[in-house]
Amino acid sequence: MNRTHWSTKLGFILATAGSAIGLGNIWRFPYLAGSYGGGSFLLMYVLCAVGLGYFLLLAKLAFGRAAQTNIVDGFQVVAKKDHKTVSSWWGCFGGMLAMLNILLVSSVYVVVAGWTLSYVILGIRNLFGLGETVSAQTFSGLTGSFSEQLLWGTLSIAVTAAILVRGVKKGIEKLSLILMPALFVLLILMAICILFLPNSEKGLAFLFTPNWEMMGFTKHGFDFNIFSDLFLTAMGQAFYSLSLGMGVMFIYGSYLSDKANLKNSTKWVIVLDTLVAIMAGMIVLPAVFAFDLAPTEGPTLSFISLPMVFSKITGGSVLMLMFFMSLFVAALTSLISIYEAGVSLLMDKLSLSRTKAVLSLVLINFVIVGIVLASYTGQLNWTIAGQNLFSALDILTGSYTMLAFVLFTTVFIGWVVPNVIIRNVSEGGKKISNTFFNKYMLFTLRFTAPIILIILFASVFFK
Ligand code: ALA
Repeated sequence: MNRTHWSTKLGFILATAGSAIGLGNIWRFPYLAGSYGGGSFLLMYVLCAVGLGYFLLLAKLAFGRAAQTNIVDGFQVVAKKDHKTVSSWWGCFGGMLAMLNILLVSSVYVVVAGWTLSYVILGIRNLFGLGETVSAQTFSGLTGSFSEQLLWGTLSIAVTAAILVRGVKKGIEKLSLILMPALFVLLILMAICILFLPNSEKGLAFLFTPNWEMMGFTKHGFDFNIFSDLFLTAMGQAFYSLSLGMGVMFIYGSYLSDKANLKNSTKWVIVLDTLVAIMAGMIVLPAVFAFDLAPTEGPTLSFISLPMVFSKITGGSVLMLMFFMSLFVAALTSLISIYEAGVSLLMDKLSLSRTKAVLSLVLINFVIVGIVLASYTGQLNWTIAGQNLFSALDILTGSYTMLAFVLFTTVFIGWVVPNVIIRNVSEGGKKISNTFFNKYMLFTLRFTAPIILIILFASVFFK
């Protein structure tokens, strides 16, 4: 059967950017920047995204494009193109790890997407003067309720499934062509409105001025621990934001035809992904500074501090609705991509129709979300290392299993099939030229990325 391909270059760029731009950019980035010195985190993040993230993303997309199939068969197909034979264990292990990440990451993602959706509805109610002021109690009430969270999570799953059954071109690509420009417009409008808040310049200065102490350059000399903590957090954020740990970029690459200029499209994805993170920072941090709240609040920054700010300013209810709509749109396009990686695997390996594959994945995911929520709200006494399942799975996937997948595929790409990948990336794809770009990319895939990934592992393991 012929593999589906994206209809246009713009469709591919926006769908891939839609996968990358998610909760990671609008929810996670501002609170990480808030906790790691603002400008220091931004600078380190940009260095990680451009110096390493770009090449890994390019390689994963090229791996998928060269394979033109699912992740399990992809390893052998691409090796064959390099006149090599590899054990089927590569595909089995890679496929299992990808599926594990897809199921676990999406469960945590669905819960947070559900919170976002509930805040969109709160925002609409507030706009019509029907809702109460959103406060810390609103958030604790929501996160303490099993049934409410299950309802919002289920709605998020249902919307995602409804798009996925329509397929790659009519569902994912069409939706991205509408939602991504809408997301950019919303973010730009909000960033402009926030500029008019008193003291917003303090928040902007915090975001754009590197705090050298937070980068390790202290009065007493260079502190490697501070530097490495910042570096590893920024690198982890880049892997998360670029959806590198679940086989998503492999699948999106496998829907690309040979004609697409991969370097150029990938550059756009990195630019858009980084711009959205910066814009989210430009919205959240100045708003928080305007009311003298702490930027170091952590994950609740967007769900508690920000709504509190919005409740105090004129037009704040409109801004609140716009913010949570953006967050939901970003979460939705990412969730769609995570599910799509699983759906395509089920379609190929179990010969299921798209609708059946979507329904099977949704059902499995729904059960996991139910268990995760029951443990999170204390209805079920299941924990891992003393943590409820929501926190445990977030840590497990963010710190271990996604990194393991990135490491596994990077070693395969860099050491087993580098020629196919570099050839696939180069325009024309016929021969490998000895350019600086190719040499740098090969070095990154073989040495820099695996070494950094191993250090990342070690750093979380021995923390
Ligand atoms: N890349 C997605 C995000 O940033 C997973 O949320």
